[in-house]
Amino acid sequence: MGTAPGLRLAEPASPPAARPYASVEGIARRYGAVAVFEDVWFGIGRGEFVCLVGHSGCGKTTILNILAGLEPPDGGVLVVDGKEVTGPSLDRAVIFQGHALMPWLTAAGNVAFALSCRNPRWSRARCEEAAGLALARVNLAHAADRKPAQLSGGMKQRVGIARAFALAPKMMLMDEPFSALDALTRGALQDEVARLVAEASQTAFMITHDVDEAILLADRILLMSNGPGARIAEVVVNTLPRPRTRANLHHMPGYHPLRDHILDFLLTRSSRFDAKAPPAGWTPRTPPITQPAA
Ligand SMILES: Nc1ncnc2c1ncn2[C@@H]1O[C@H](COP(=O)(O)OP(=O)(O)OP(=O)(O)O)[C@@H](O)[C@H]1O
Ligand SMILES: [Mg+2]
Repeated sequence: MGTAPGLRLAEPASPPAARPYASVEGIARRYGAVAVFEDVWFGIGRGEFVCLVGHSGCGKTTILNILAGLEPPDGGVLVVDGKEVTGPSLDRAVIFQGHALMPWLTAAGNVAFALSCRNPRWSRARCEEAAGLALARVNLAHAADRKPAQLSGGMKQRVGIARAFALAPKMMLMDEPFSALDALTRGALQDEVARLVAEASQTAFMITHDVDEAILLADRILLMSNGPGARIAEVVVNTLPRPRTRANLHHMPGYHPLRDHILDFLLTRSSRFDAKAPPAGWTPRTPPITQPAA
């Protein structure tokens, strides 16, 4: 295992010698005596796209909320850009599963409002102009003056994507952003996000249930075992060459072994992973991480 083109396994719990841009260090979520997940370690490098895949209820959204600073972990720490995260920041934009638009504002108004929060010194005209450009990049210029109630689900999600990318965040966090959409719309938006991420060398963390989506977008795919006591059980390095599109992905050598590996994990290994008997290479407690040189 691990020799097929496109498929390389990395150590799940051993941090690199230097701290990456975002460093999740032994975090846990507990409800009473039950740990939903514990001792979760992973890093996200600058410009890297990391996907988290795992069964429902293992704690993926909780991990994303911790990364966003929306809730603190019950154990461990999150360090971004050398600083421990203690709350939300406009440096980290979130694209939710639901679009989370303000219903009384137009599409352009929603994007412009977020831009005015991010850039308090910008004039109204500058925010509106930037909002127009952001909507054009997701092919929504024609719907800029419509309110969310006048947009389809896919269009609303596009506005959410335009808004998040317009903020030029240091890290983009996405919680199953396409899961409520039909397959055609989802595919189109996946390609759009792939393009936007490549253009901006965007650091990104995304949760998905869609294995092809993870293979299309991610540089590394974290496979999370089932809870309680869930962990990052495997880290798969996606070595398939870029640019990747939905049209060329399944023709790439290495695509099928990679897909099979992840599906096998979800179908069998995810429930067999025993947190008390970690696999070879697993280092539950790790030595101190050295700070990268400034
Ligand atoms: N108040 C609570 N008491 C006990 N358990 C809770 C509580 N709130 C959440 N949980 C549990 O926390 C776990 C993690 O939830 P989370 O939403 O992070 O999962 P998820 O992996 O994102 O699932 P999905 O794929 O369905 O979105 C769930 O199993 C849920 O039952
Ligand atoms: Mg979730």
